[in-house]
Amino acid sequence: MMMDRSESPAVQWDGKNLFLLDQRILPLQEKYTTYFTVDEVAQAITDMVVRGAPAIGVTAAYGVVLAAKIRISKGGDWRAELNEDLVMLANARPTAINLHWAIERMRPLLDGEESGLVERLSTEAVAIHQEDIAACKTMGRLGSSYIDSGSGVLTHCNAGALATGGYGTALGVIRSAWEENRLSEVFADETRPWLQGSRLTAWELTQDNIPVSLLADGASSWLMKQGKVNWVVVGSDRIAANGDVANKIGTYAAAIAARHHGIKFMVVAPTSTIDRAVAAGDDIPIESRESEELFSCSGNRIAAEKASGWNPVFDVTPASLVDLIVTERGVVENPTKEKIAALFE
Ligand code: MRU
Repeated sequence: MMMDRSESPAVQWDGKNLFLLDQRILPLQEKYTTYFTVDEVAQAITDMVVRGAPAIGVTAAYGVVLAAKIRISKGGDWRAELNEDLVMLANARPTAINLHWAIERMRPLLDGEESGLVERLSTEAVAIHQEDIAACKTMGRLGSSYIDSGSGVLTHCNAGALATGGYGTALGVIRSAWEENRLSEVFADETRPWLQGSRLTAWELTQDNIPVSLLADGASSWLMKQGKVNWVVVGSDRIAANGDVANKIGTYAAAIAARHHGIKFMVVAPTSTIDRAVAAGDDIPIESRESEELFSCSGNRIAAEKASGWNPVFDVTPASLVDLIVTERGVVENPTKEKIAALFE
């Protein structure tokens, strides 16, 4: 049984196979591809067929099921080989901690008896998926309650249904706030170079009939200066134990500009995005991707031939610039190490 596609557009599971909406070609084409092996799943994560920290985690959980199914069917020392599959899967992308979180949540089941194991793993992966949707809905409600009616919001990247099990983190808050008539306007940075804002966030919001204005990333400070924004609302790929927040490159610039203009900055992320093993943002691995992403648009070269590039795809916003971290376990105001730790008590 597949989940309703409007509830979970990015990731679908029918109990045996995985279906991913190819986010590289949205919004021009809406195409699902079927995945049968964990190698294919890891490649899809690396290539950003599926992207966004919680969606990567959900996908990885299903990847573990596919890996176990194949390894068990081949027999031999399948537990050792499966372990190698999991290491490979965990290395598919470096920054989003939800990838590791989901694999570690699946791992204890692998110690159980062989009979019925694949079914138990499938049940657990579906639970991870459903819990992520539920967490997004809870965070949507919690985050929205901080937004006064008539507010303008700005978001960066895509932290929506496409980036999660469904509903979205930052876009979950925006969806809730829109339903509660709190929003005057929604703005989205285009989010160069991969254009998650113009391709994905604008696609999602307009499908839900939520009007959205796109702007060039460099225009956001000027937008704030016009008094059009009351909240910047973003997701995260990894939050350190002290509340430093890794998210899409450009988030740090938005946070600095928000503080300068007296605008509030909200980070919306499930607790599966909090990495308590990492003390501070400096220790979060930041993915660098090929400069080709900067040089080309839709496969056409746009940069001067001899230019070289620098393409870190995440940055870290220090906790001191964050007003709220909204999780499914509660909201942390002015985050500190102690307040983050209290979420887990
Ligand atoms: O490179 P991406 O598209 O995977 O980056 C995604 C983001 O930075 C999102 O803001 C983050 O994962 C939060 S998604 C709910």
